Parts: sequence; C-alpha cells; structure tokens
Amino acid sequence: MEVIIKPDAGAVGKAAARIFEDQLERKSNSVLGLTTGSTPLGLYGELATLAHANLVDFSRVTTFNLDELVGIPLDHPLSYYSYVRAKLFSRVNIPLVSTHAPNGLARDIPKHCEEYEAAIKRAGGIDLQLLGIGTDGHIGFNEPSSSLNSRTRLKPLTPEMVEENTRLFGTDKPPRYVITMGIATIVEARHCMVLALGESKARTVAAMVEGPITADCPASALQMHPHVT
Ligand code: F6R
Repeated sequence: MEVIIKPDAGAVGKAAARIFEDQLERKSNSVLGLTTGSTPLGLYGELATLAHANLVDFSRVTTFNLDELVGIPLDHPLSYYSYVRAKLFSRVNIPLVSTHAPNGLARDIPKHCEEYEAAIKRAGGIDLQLLGIGTDGHIGFNEPSSSLNSRTRLKPLTPEMVEENTRLFGTDKPPRYVITMGIATIVEARHCMVLALGESKARTVAAMVEGPITADCPASALQMHPHVT
C-alpha cells in the first residue's frame, strides 16, 4: 500500500484529484468506482474545478457506485446515487447514461446484485475504485464480520444508520437495508484509493495498513491488493 499523508483535507482532495486526472489521461474511457460519504467531497469539488477549466474529460468515463439504499428510487433526493450525481456528475461532462448504481427498488435483489457484478465485468472491470473508511474499518457497507470473500449483496444497516435515516427521511419507516459491493468485488478493481480524514480515523487507518488481515477490519483485506493508495 502506498500511504500519502497530507496536512489537511484540502490537500487530500487535491492529491486524490491528481490521481483521478492521471487515470483519465492514461485511459480516457476509464471505469471508476465511486462512493458517497463526506470524505470525497473535497475530491469531487477539485474534479469539478478541473472539469470547468477543461483539464479533465469525463465524456468517455463509466462509473459504478459502491452502494445504494434499498426501498427508494435512484432519483430520490436522499439516494446515494442522487448524492454522487449532485456532488460530481452534475459538475463534470459525464453522460448520465454512463453512470450506474445498484437499484434499491429491484424486485429480485440477489439477481440484481449478480447483474450489477456482470455489468461491471462487461464494462471491462473497475480501473480506479474510490473508498472511504468507517472508524470500525468498514468499506462500502461491509461492516466488521463481513466475509472477505463477499460479493455485491443485501446488507442490513447498523442501528445507528437506521436512526440517522429516521432523522433524515423524517419517517418511522426509513431505509433499513443497503445493497453494497462486497470486499471481493472491491478488490477486483485494478487500483483502490482509500481516503481518510482526521485524527478520529488514524487508528483505523493503522489497522488497515499494518494490522492483521481480518474480517474485524474489512479494509485490511486491501493489504493483499497489488495497487492501493
Ligand atoms: C459510503 C460508504 C461508506 C463511507 C464510510 C466513510 O458510500 O460506502 O463506507 O465511505 O462510512 O464515510 P465518511 O466519508 O462520511 O466518513
């Protein structure tokens, strides 16, 4: 793993954007794996600035989101797809038809998960997968105890997340499940980039980089990957 330490969130966003820029310069039709959360906001802002100055071209890019809430349509304002659409897709020149996310309204979720994996393969596999990390070591919604061999599947949200959704959705029937790429899906990307900001993530990052490879810290599976930043 290549570990890059930067003094602040702004510098992290810039360094991460440089990696995206390099990727798109090398391969204009790259397949990118994208994530929600607060961590990538600086990166998405930098990419928007670069796109505005015509320094990065998303016109031939294909994207796959890491995860999506179950029970709401992709165009719901609180869907993870809407989040990435607002923070990135609407600010760069990517055709929306090239952007993909698991469908939280799929009737047959296991079948849909298989189809999502097949769509990633058909696109040629993910070139660069962006990841955040939770303080418990989760990546995507692969919480501790998730199989390191897991693929895209349905997972229940943690009670904390359900509580958060109750507040956000303003209903007592908020989303309780999510579809997430599995660990084995994630590590198939050619290059994985994990962003972590702030002291509260320091111990988790240390466990990911230097700790034992264990389902207790799902991100530790990335130690086996040949190209992680
Ligand atoms: C979000 C996701 C999560 C987050 C992680 C960190 O799509 O998959 O794994 O990346 O929870 O979240 P933030 O960036 O908000 O600290």
